[in-house]
Amino acid sequence: MNISIFGLGYVGAVSLACLARDGHQVVGVDIDRAKLDLIAAGKTPVVEEGMVDLMAAVVASGKVTVSQNVAEALGATDVSLICVGTPSAPNGSQDQGALLRVAQEMGAALRTKPNGHVFVFRSTVVPGTVEDMLLPLLERESGKKEGVDFHVCFQPEFLREGSSIRDYDKPPFTIVGSRGESAVAALRALFGHLPCEFRITTIRAAETVKYCCNNFHALKITFANETARLCEALGVDPFAVMDLVCQDTQLNISRAYLKPGFAFGGSCLPKDLRATMYLAKTRDVELPMLGSILQSNRAHIDLALAKVLGSGARRVGMLGLSFKPGTDDLRESPLVTMAEHLIGKGLNLLVYDPEVHLSSLLGANRRFIEQHLPHIGQLLRPDVAEVIGHAEIVIVGMQDQRVLDGLRQHLHRDQRVLDLVCLPESARLGRYEGLCW
Ligand SMILES: NC(=O)c1ccc[n+]([C@@H]2O[C@H](COP(=O)([O-])OP(=O)(O)OC[C@H]3O[C@@H](n4cnc5c(N)ncnc54)[C@H](O)[C@@H]3O)[C@@H](O)[C@H]2O)c1
Repeated sequence: MNISIFGLGYVGAVSLACLARDGHQVVGVDIDRAKLDLIAAGKTPVVEEGMVDLMAAVVASGKVTVSQNVAEALGATDVSLICVGTPSAPNGSQDQGALLRVAQEMGAALRTKPNGHVFVFRSTVVPGTVEDMLLPLLERESGKKEGVDFHVCFQPEFLREGSSIRDYDKPPFTIVGSRGESAVAALRALFGHLPCEFRITTIRAAETVKYCCNNFHALKITFANETARLCEALGVDPFAVMDLVCQDTQLNISRAYLKPGFAFGGSCLPKDLRATMYLAKTRDVELPMLGSILQSNRAHIDLALAKVLGSGARRVGMLGLSFKPGTDDLRESPLVTMAEHLIGKGLNLLVYDPEVHLSSLLGANRRFIEQHLPHIGQLLRPDVAEVIGHAEIVIVGMQDQRVLDGLRQHLHRDQRVLDLVCLPESARLGRYEGLCW
Protein backbone atom coordinates (compact mmCIF):
# COMPACT_ATOMS: atom_id res chain seq x y z
CA MET A 1 0.00 0.00 0.00
CA ASN A 2 1.11 3.62 -0.53
CA ILE A 3 1.03 5.44 2.79
CA SER A 4 1.85 8.97 3.91
CA ILE A 5 2.67 9.71 7.54
CA PHE A 6 2.23 13.23 8.90
CA GLY A 7 4.31 13.99 12.00
CA LEU A 8 7.55 12.02 12.47
CA GLY A 9 7.95 12.02 16.24
CA TYR A 10 7.92 8.82 18.30
CA VAL A 11 4.66 7.51 16.88
CA GLY A 12 5.13 8.63 13.28
CA ALA A 13 8.78 7.61 12.91
CA VAL A 14 8.25 4.14 14.39
CA SER A 15 5.13 3.60 12.25
CA LEU A 16 7.03 4.72 9.15
CA ALA A 17 9.88 2.30 9.80
CA CYS A 18 7.62 -0.66 10.68
CA LEU A 19 5.22 -0.15 7.76
CA ALA A 20 8.14 0.08 5.33
CA ARG A 21 9.63 -3.06 6.91
CA ASP A 22 6.27 -4.79 6.30
CA GLY A 23 6.56 -4.01 2.58
CA HIS A 24 4.58 -0.80 2.17
CA GLN A 25 5.78 2.29 0.32
CA VAL A 26 5.86 5.15 2.84
CA VAL A 27 6.22 8.92 2.52
CA GLY A 28 7.11 10.78 5.73
CA VAL A 29 5.98 14.40 6.15
CA ASP A 30 7.06 16.78 8.89
CA ILE A 31 7.51 20.54 9.29
CA ASP A 32 10.87 19.86 10.96
CA ARG A 33 13.44 19.81 8.15
CA ALA A 34 16.10 18.28 10.44
CA LYS A 35 13.94 15.16 11.02
CA LEU A 36 13.38 14.74 7.29
CA ASP A 37 17.11 15.05 6.57
CA LEU A 38 17.93 12.45 9.21
CA ILE A 39 15.42 9.97 7.78
CA ALA A 40 16.57 10.64 4.19
CA ALA A 41 20.07 9.75 5.39
CA GLY A 42 18.83 6.48 6.90
CA LYS A 43 19.01 7.77 10.46
CA THR A 44 16.34 7.75 13.13
CA PRO A 45 14.92 11.05 14.46
CA VAL A 46 13.95 9.36 17.78
CA VAL A 47 15.99 7.26 20.21
CA GLU A 48 14.24 3.90 20.39
CA GLU A 49 15.52 0.35 20.75
CA GLY A 50 16.01 -1.19 17.29
CA MET A 51 15.31 2.00 15.35
CA VAL A 52 18.91 2.69 14.23
CA ASP A 53 19.18 -0.59 12.32
CA LEU A 54 15.58 -0.64 11.13
CA MET A 55 15.65 2.90 9.72
CA ALA A 56 18.92 2.27 7.92
CA ALA A 57 17.49 -0.92 6.39
CA VAL A 58 14.14 0.49 5.24
CA VAL A 59 15.64 3.66 3.76
CA ALA A 60 18.25 1.58 1.91
CA SER A 61 15.45 -0.65 0.57
CA GLY A 62 13.89 2.35 -1.20
CA LYS A 63 10.58 1.94 0.64
CA VAL A 64 10.85 5.31 2.43
CA THR A 65 10.86 8.85 1.08
CA VAL A 66 10.37 12.18 2.85
CA SER A 67 8.67 15.39 1.85
CA GLN A 68 7.48 18.74 3.14
CA ASN A 69 4.96 19.02 0.35
CA VAL A 70 1.54 17.94 1.63
CA ALA A 71 -0.14 17.86 -1.81
CA GLU A 72 2.64 15.74 -3.25
CA ALA A 73 2.51 13.26 -0.34
CA LEU A 74 -1.27 13.00 -0.49
CA GLY A 75 -1.30 12.64 -4.26
CA ALA A 76 1.18 9.76 -4.17
CA THR A 77 -0.65 7.74 -1.49
CA ASP A 78 -4.00 6.10 -0.69
CA VAL A 79 -3.86 6.29 3.10
CA SER A 80 -2.51 8.94 5.48
CA LEU A 81 -1.66 8.34 9.13
CA ILE A 82 -1.71 11.60 11.07
CA CYS A 83 0.60 11.47 14.11
CA VAL A 84 1.37 15.12 14.88
CA GLY A 85 1.75 16.17 18.51
CA THR A 86 -1.21 17.22 20.67
CA PRO A 87 0.49 18.68 23.76
CA SER A 88 -1.08 20.41 26.77
CA ALA A 89 -1.91 24.09 26.50
CA PRO A 90 -1.03 26.18 29.60
CA ASN A 91 -4.62 25.89 30.89
CA GLY A 92 -4.59 22.07 30.63
CA SER A 93 -6.66 21.88 27.46
CA GLN A 94 -5.32 20.08 24.43
CA ASP A 95 -3.34 22.22 21.98
CA GLN A 96 -4.72 21.10 18.62
CA GLY A 97 -2.90 23.74 16.60
CA ALA A 98 -0.66 21.29 14.72
CA LEU A 99 -3.55 18.94 14.03
CA LEU A 100 -5.83 21.66 12.67
CA ARG A 101 -3.05 23.05 10.51
CA VAL A 102 -2.25 19.67 9.01
CA ALA A 103 -5.97 18.89 8.43
CA GLN A 104 -6.41 22.21 6.68
CA GLU A 105 -3.42 21.54 4.41
CA MET A 106 -4.56 18.00 3.67
CA GLY A 107 -8.08 19.23 2.85
CA ALA A 108 -6.69 21.80 0.41
CA ALA A 109 -4.53 19.11 -1.21
CA LEU A 110 -7.49 16.74 -1.47
CA ARG A 111 -9.41 19.29 -3.58
CA THR A 112 -7.30 18.45 -6.66
CA LYS A 113 -6.71 14.75 -5.96
CA PRO A 114 -8.56 12.75 -8.61
CA ASN A 115 -9.18 9.62 -6.52
CA GLY A 116 -10.31 8.94 -2.95
CA HIS A 117 -8.29 8.92 0.23
CA VAL A 118 -8.39 7.43 3.74
CA PHE A 119 -7.34 9.69 6.64
CA VAL A 120 -6.38 7.77 9.77
CA PHE A 121 -6.00 10.06 12.77
CA ARG A 122 -3.60 8.54 15.29
CA SER A 123 -2.74 11.50 17.50
CA THR A 124 -4.44 11.33 20.88
CA VAL A 125 -7.42 13.70 20.70
CA VAL A 126 -10.23 14.66 23.05
CA PRO A 127 -13.47 12.87 22.12
CA GLY A 128 -15.39 14.57 19.36
CA THR A 129 -12.32 16.13 17.70
CA VAL A 130 -12.38 13.98 14.55
CA GLU A 131 -16.08 14.25 13.76
CA ASP A 132 -16.71 17.78 15.02
CA MET A 133 -13.52 19.54 13.94
CA LEU A 134 -11.26 17.59 11.59
CA LEU A 135 -13.89 16.03 9.33
CA PRO A 136 -15.74 19.35 8.71
CA LEU A 137 -12.39 21.05 8.12
CA LEU A 138 -11.40 18.43 5.53
CA GLU A 139 -14.80 18.76 3.82
CA ARG A 140 -14.67 22.55 3.80
CA GLU A 141 -11.10 22.78 2.47
CA SER A 142 -11.55 20.06 -0.14
CA GLY A 143 -15.11 20.78 -1.24
CA LYS A 144 -15.61 17.00 -1.06
CA LYS A 145 -17.81 14.70 1.03
CA GLU A 146 -16.71 12.23 3.69
CA GLY A 147 -18.08 8.74 3.07
CA VAL A 148 -18.24 9.44 -0.69
CA ASP A 149 -15.02 11.10 -1.86
CA PHE A 150 -12.83 10.28 1.14
CA HIS A 151 -12.97 8.52 4.52
CA VAL A 152 -11.84 9.37 8.03
CA CYS A 153 -11.25 7.08 10.97
CA PHE A 154 -9.48 7.17 14.32
CA GLN A 155 -7.03 4.51 15.42
CA PRO A 156 -5.54 5.12 18.87
CA GLU A 157 -1.87 4.35 19.24
CA PHE A 158 -0.83 2.18 22.20
CA LEU A 159 2.94 2.00 21.82
CA ARG A 160 5.17 2.99 24.71
CA GLU A 161 8.38 4.93 24.31
CA GLY A 162 11.37 2.69 25.02
CA SER A 163 9.72 -0.44 23.64
CA SER A 164 7.87 1.05 20.70
CA ILE A 165 8.88 -1.40 17.95
CA ARG A 166 7.97 -4.36 20.17
CA ASP A 167 4.69 -2.66 21.08
CA TYR A 168 3.99 -1.89 17.41
CA ASP A 169 4.34 -5.60 16.63
CA LYS A 170 2.40 -6.79 19.67
CA PRO A 171 -0.16 -4.20 20.75
CA PRO A 172 -2.83 -5.01 23.37
CA PHE A 173 -5.41 -4.65 20.58
CA THR A 174 -6.07 -2.74 17.38
CA ILE A 175 -9.01 -0.39 17.78
CA VAL A 176 -10.51 1.35 14.79
CA GLY A 177 -13.16 3.99 15.23
CA SER A 178 -14.88 4.25 11.89
CA ARG A 179 -18.00 5.47 10.07
CA GLY A 180 -17.83 2.86 7.30
CA GLU A 181 -16.21 -0.24 5.87
CA SER A 182 -13.80 1.44 3.42
CA ALA A 183 -11.52 2.85 6.10
CA VAL A 184 -11.67 -0.41 8.06
CA ALA A 185 -10.60 -2.43 5.03
CA ALA A 186 -7.51 -0.24 4.54
CA LEU A 187 -6.53 -0.65 8.18
CA ARG A 188 -7.08 -4.40 8.10
CA ALA A 189 -4.59 -4.52 5.22
CA LEU A 190 -2.03 -2.62 7.34
CA PHE A 191 -2.61 -4.05 10.81
CA GLY A 192 -4.84 -7.13 10.44
CA HIS A 193 -1.86 -9.52 10.67
CA LEU A 194 -0.87 -8.37 14.17
CA PRO A 195 -1.30 -10.97 16.94
CA CYS A 196 -4.18 -9.22 18.71
CA GLU A 197 -7.90 -8.54 18.47
CA PHE A 198 -8.98 -6.14 15.72
CA ARG A 199 -11.95 -4.25 17.16
CA ILE A 200 -14.18 -1.79 15.33
CA THR A 201 -16.16 0.85 17.16
CA THR A 202 -17.42 4.40 16.74
CA ILE A 203 -14.91 7.20 16.28
CA ARG A 204 -15.95 8.83 19.57
CA ALA A 205 -15.58 5.58 21.52
CA ALA A 206 -12.12 5.00 20.02
CA GLU A 207 -11.07 8.54 20.96
CA THR A 208 -12.37 7.99 24.49
CA VAL A 209 -10.75 4.56 24.94
CA LYS A 210 -7.30 6.08 24.47
CA TYR A 211 -7.88 8.53 27.33
CA CYS A 212 -9.40 5.80 29.52
CA CYS A 213 -6.39 3.55 28.99
CA ASN A 214 -3.91 6.29 29.87
CA ASN A 215 -5.98 7.39 32.87
CA PHE A 216 -6.16 3.79 34.06
CA HIS A 217 -2.41 3.39 33.75
CA ALA A 218 -1.88 6.60 35.74
CA LEU A 219 -4.37 5.34 38.34
CA LYS A 220 -2.54 1.99 38.67
CA ILE A 221 0.86 3.62 39.09
CA THR A 222 -0.51 6.02 41.70
CA PHE A 223 -2.26 3.19 43.55
CA ALA A 224 1.00 1.23 43.78
CA ASN A 225 2.91 4.33 44.88
CA GLU A 226 0.37 5.41 47.52
CA THR A 227 0.34 1.84 48.83
CA ALA A 228 4.15 1.92 49.00
CA ARG A 229 4.16 5.22 50.93
CA LEU A 230 1.80 3.78 53.53
CA CYS A 231 3.73 0.51 53.67
CA GLU A 232 6.99 2.32 54.30
CA ALA A 233 5.46 4.25 57.19
CA LEU A 234 4.19 0.97 58.65
CA GLY A 235 7.47 -0.89 58.18
CA VAL A 236 5.86 -3.28 55.70
CA ASP A 237 7.56 -4.40 52.47
CA PRO A 238 5.53 -2.74 49.65
CA PHE A 239 6.85 -5.14 47.00
CA ALA A 240 5.64 -8.17 48.95
CA VAL A 241 2.23 -6.53 49.40
CA MET A 242 1.78 -5.45 45.77
CA ASP A 243 3.07 -8.79 44.51
CA LEU A 244 0.36 -10.57 46.50
CA VAL A 245 -2.26 -8.03 45.43
CA CYS A 246 -1.41 -8.80 41.80
CA GLN A 247 -1.64 -12.54 42.35
CA ASP A 248 -5.39 -12.26 42.80
CA THR A 249 -6.60 -12.44 39.23
CA GLN A 250 -10.18 -13.09 40.36
CA LEU A 251 -11.00 -9.78 41.98
CA ASN A 252 -7.91 -7.55 41.65
CA ILE A 253 -6.29 -7.90 38.24
CA SER A 254 -9.44 -8.79 36.36
CA ARG A 255 -12.63 -7.39 34.86
CA ALA A 256 -14.24 -7.41 38.31
CA TYR A 257 -15.54 -4.02 39.49
CA LEU A 258 -14.89 -2.40 36.12
CA LYS A 259 -18.44 -2.28 34.81
CA PRO A 260 -20.17 1.09 35.24
CA GLY A 261 -23.00 0.97 37.76
CA PHE A 262 -24.04 2.49 41.08
CA ALA A 263 -21.98 3.62 44.08
CA PHE A 264 -20.29 1.06 46.32
CA GLY A 265 -21.26 0.55 49.93
CA GLY A 266 -21.57 -2.27 52.40
CA SER A 267 -19.87 -3.23 55.58
CA CYS A 268 -16.29 -3.31 54.27
CA LEU A 269 -15.13 -0.90 51.57
CA PRO A 270 -16.21 2.43 53.15
CA LYS A 271 -15.07 1.53 56.67
CA ASP A 272 -11.74 0.11 55.51
CA LEU A 273 -11.02 3.12 53.34
CA ARG A 274 -11.74 5.39 56.31
CA ALA A 275 -9.46 3.32 58.55
CA THR A 276 -6.71 3.48 55.90
CA MET A 277 -7.00 7.25 55.72
CA TYR A 278 -6.94 7.60 59.49
CA LEU A 279 -3.87 5.38 59.69
CA ALA A 280 -2.15 7.48 57.02
CA LYS A 281 -3.00 10.65 58.93
CA THR A 282 -1.46 9.33 62.13
CA ARG A 283 1.75 8.51 60.21
CA ASP A 284 1.86 11.81 58.30
CA VAL A 285 1.45 10.05 54.97
CA GLU A 286 -0.33 11.87 52.14
CA LEU A 287 -2.67 9.65 50.12
CA PRO A 288 -4.65 12.11 47.97
CA MET A 289 -5.95 9.55 45.50
CA LEU A 290 -7.23 7.04 48.05
CA GLY A 291 -8.50 9.97 50.10
CA SER A 292 -10.73 11.16 47.28
CA ILE A 293 -12.49 7.84 46.64
CA LEU A 294 -15.31 8.23 49.16
CA GLN A 295 -15.93 11.75 47.89
CA SER A 296 -16.21 10.45 44.33
CA ASN A 297 -18.52 7.67 45.50
CA ARG A 298 -20.74 10.25 47.18
CA ALA A 299 -20.81 12.26 43.93
CA HIS A 300 -22.31 9.18 42.26
CA ILE A 301 -25.10 9.02 44.84
CA ASP A 302 -25.67 12.76 44.46
CA LEU A 303 -26.04 12.33 40.70
CA ALA A 304 -28.77 9.73 41.21
CA LEU A 305 -30.52 11.97 43.75
CA ALA A 306 -30.34 14.96 41.40
CA LYS A 307 -31.99 12.90 38.66
CA VAL A 308 -34.83 11.78 40.93
CA LEU A 309 -35.41 15.26 42.38
CA GLY A 310 -35.04 16.84 38.93
CA SER A 311 -37.79 14.59 37.55
CA GLY A 312 -40.36 16.47 39.62
CA ALA A 313 -41.94 13.18 40.76
CA ARG A 314 -43.40 13.12 44.29
CA ARG A 315 -44.23 9.40 44.55
CA VAL A 316 -41.10 7.26 44.34
CA GLY A 317 -40.69 3.48 44.21
CA MET A 318 -37.32 1.99 45.07
CA LEU A 319 -36.51 -1.56 43.98
CA GLY A 320 -33.61 -2.75 46.10
CA LEU A 321 -32.32 -1.43 49.42
CA SER A 322 -29.35 -3.53 50.51
CA PHE A 323 -25.90 -2.66 49.18
CA LYS A 324 -25.86 -5.46 46.62
CA PRO A 325 -28.17 -8.23 45.40
CA GLY A 326 -28.25 -11.49 47.28
CA THR A 327 -27.70 -9.94 50.69
CA ASP A 328 -29.87 -8.29 53.30
CA ASP A 329 -26.97 -6.21 54.65
CA LEU A 330 -28.06 -2.60 54.88
CA ARG A 331 -24.91 -1.20 56.46
CA GLU A 332 -23.68 1.79 54.43
CA SER A 333 -25.91 0.85 51.52
CA PRO A 334 -25.98 3.78 49.06
CA LEU A 335 -29.64 2.99 48.45
CA VAL A 336 -30.33 3.60 52.16
CA THR A 337 -28.53 6.96 51.84
CA MET A 338 -30.73 7.76 48.85
CA ALA A 339 -33.89 6.68 50.65
CA GLU A 340 -33.06 8.83 53.68
CA HIS A 341 -32.41 11.82 51.48
CA LEU A 342 -35.64 11.38 49.52
CA ILE A 343 -37.66 11.03 52.73
CA GLY A 344 -35.93 14.15 54.03
CA LYS A 345 -37.06 16.02 50.93
CA GLY A 346 -40.63 15.03 51.72
CA LEU A 347 -41.06 12.58 48.85
CA ASN A 348 -43.53 9.75 49.20
CA LEU A 349 -41.35 6.62 49.07
CA LEU A 350 -42.11 2.90 49.02
CA VAL A 351 -39.38 0.25 48.90
CA TYR A 352 -39.27 -3.32 47.62
CA ASP A 353 -36.34 -5.56 48.50
CA PRO A 354 -37.24 -9.24 48.81
CA GLU A 355 -34.07 -10.14 50.75
CA VAL A 356 -34.48 -7.36 53.28
CA HIS A 357 -38.17 -8.01 53.70
CA LEU A 358 -37.56 -11.68 54.32
CA SER A 359 -34.83 -11.02 56.86
CA SER A 360 -36.89 -8.43 58.71
CA LEU A 361 -39.70 -10.98 58.92
CA LEU A 362 -37.30 -13.62 60.18
CA GLY A 363 -35.72 -11.22 62.62
CA ALA A 364 -32.20 -11.52 61.24
CA ASN A 365 -31.98 -7.90 60.25
CA ARG A 366 -34.96 -6.68 62.20
CA ARG A 367 -33.06 -5.13 65.06
CA PHE A 368 -30.80 -3.19 62.71
CA ILE A 369 -33.80 -1.83 60.83
CA GLU A 370 -35.72 -1.07 64.03
CA GLN A 371 -32.78 0.69 65.67
CA HIS A 372 -31.18 2.49 62.77
CA LEU A 373 -33.78 2.80 60.03
CA PRO A 374 -37.25 2.57 61.59
CA HIS A 375 -38.55 5.18 59.14
CA ILE A 376 -37.36 3.10 56.18
CA GLY A 377 -38.56 -0.18 57.68
CA GLN A 378 -42.09 1.17 57.57
CA LEU A 379 -41.78 1.84 53.85
CA LEU A 380 -40.85 -1.73 52.93
CA ARG A 381 -43.49 -3.59 50.96
CA PRO A 382 -43.47 -7.31 50.16
CA ASP A 383 -45.18 -6.82 46.81
CA VAL A 384 -43.25 -5.41 43.85
CA ALA A 385 -46.52 -4.57 42.08
CA GLU A 386 -47.55 -2.27 44.92
CA VAL A 387 -44.26 -0.36 44.84
CA ILE A 388 -44.27 0.03 41.06
CA GLY A 389 -47.97 0.91 41.01
CA HIS A 390 -47.40 3.65 43.60
CA ALA A 391 -44.55 5.36 41.77
CA GLU A 392 -44.25 8.23 39.34
CA ILE A 393 -40.56 7.31 39.18
CA VAL A 394 -39.14 3.83 39.83
CA ILE A 395 -35.52 3.64 40.99
CA VAL A 396 -34.08 0.27 40.02
CA GLY A 397 -31.30 -0.53 42.49
CA MET A 398 -31.15 -4.33 42.20
CA GLN A 399 -31.06 -6.78 39.32
CA ASP A 400 -33.06 -9.79 40.25
CA GLN A 401 -35.55 -11.95 38.38
CA ARG A 402 -38.36 -10.75 40.67
CA VAL A 403 -37.52 -7.13 39.83
CA LEU A 404 -37.23 -7.79 36.08
CA ASP A 405 -40.56 -9.67 36.06
CA GLY A 406 -42.14 -6.90 38.14
CA LEU A 407 -41.03 -4.23 35.68
CA ARG A 408 -42.24 -6.23 32.67
CA GLN A 409 -45.62 -6.97 34.22
CA HIS A 410 -46.51 -3.81 36.12
CA LEU A 411 -44.71 -0.81 34.66
CA HIS A 412 -46.78 1.60 32.55
CA ARG A 413 -45.38 3.30 29.47
CA ASP A 414 -45.59 6.77 31.02
CA GLN A 415 -43.81 5.86 34.27
CA ARG A 416 -40.26 7.09 34.68
CA VAL A 417 -37.49 4.62 35.45
CA LEU A 418 -34.05 5.51 36.81
CA ASP A 419 -31.77 2.52 36.27
CA LEU A 420 -28.81 2.27 38.66
CA VAL A 421 -27.84 -1.30 37.76
CA CYS A 422 -27.59 -1.34 33.95
CA LEU A 423 -30.72 -3.36 33.19
CA PRO A 424 -30.76 -5.62 30.13
CA GLU A 425 -32.22 -3.98 27.01
CA SER A 426 -35.41 -6.03 27.31
CA ALA A 427 -36.17 -4.54 30.74
CA ARG A 428 -35.52 -0.90 29.77
CA LEU A 429 -39.19 -0.03 29.80
CA GLY A 430 -41.29 3.06 30.49
CA ARG A 431 -39.61 6.46 30.31
CA TYR A 432 -36.24 4.88 30.89
CA GLU A 433 -33.10 6.71 31.98
CA GLY A 434 -29.77 5.12 32.89
CA LEU A 435 -27.74 6.68 35.70
CA CYS A 436 -24.84 7.57 33.39
CA TRP A 437 -25.39 5.51 30.26
N1 LIG B 1 4.92 9.16 22.40
C1 LIG B 1 4.16 8.12 22.68
O1 LIG B 1 4.58 7.14 23.28
C2 LIG B 1 2.71 8.10 22.25
C3 LIG B 1 1.97 6.92 22.39
C4 LIG B 1 0.64 6.90 21.98
C5 LIG B 1 0.07 8.04 21.44
N2 LIG B 1 0.80 9.20 21.34
C6 LIG B 1 0.16 10.38 20.73
O2 LIG B 1 0.60 10.46 19.38
C7 LIG B 1 0.77 11.83 19.00
C8 LIG B 1 2.20 12.05 18.56
O3 LIG B 1 3.04 11.80 19.67
P1 LIG B 1 4.63 11.85 19.55
O4 LIG B 1 5.19 11.55 20.88
O5 LIG B 1 5.05 11.04 18.38
O6 LIG B 1 4.83 13.42 19.22
P2 LIG B 1 6.16 14.21 18.90
O7 LIG B 1 6.03 15.54 19.54
O8 LIG B 1 7.36 13.35 19.20
O9 LIG B 1 6.10 14.38 17.32
C9 LIG B 1 5.16 15.15 16.66
C10 LIG B 1 5.72 15.53 15.29
O10 LIG B 1 4.71 16.22 14.56
C11 LIG B 1 5.39 17.19 13.76
N3 LIG B 1 4.44 18.19 13.26
C12 LIG B 1 3.86 19.21 13.90
N4 LIG B 1 3.07 19.92 13.08
C13 LIG B 1 3.12 19.30 11.88
C14 LIG B 1 2.51 19.55 10.63
N5 LIG B 1 1.67 20.58 10.44
N6 LIG B 1 2.79 18.72 9.61
C15 LIG B 1 3.62 17.67 9.79
N7 LIG B 1 4.22 17.39 10.95
C16 LIG B 1 4.00 18.21 11.98
C17 LIG B 1 6.45 17.74 14.70
O11 LIG B 1 7.46 18.43 14.01
C18 LIG B 1 6.93 16.45 15.37
O12 LIG B 1 8.01 15.89 14.65
C19 LIG B 1 0.34 12.65 20.21
O13 LIG B 1 -1.01 12.98 20.07
C20 LIG B 1 0.53 11.70 21.37
O14 LIG B 1 -0.32 12.04 22.44
C21 LIG B 1 2.12 9.24 21.73
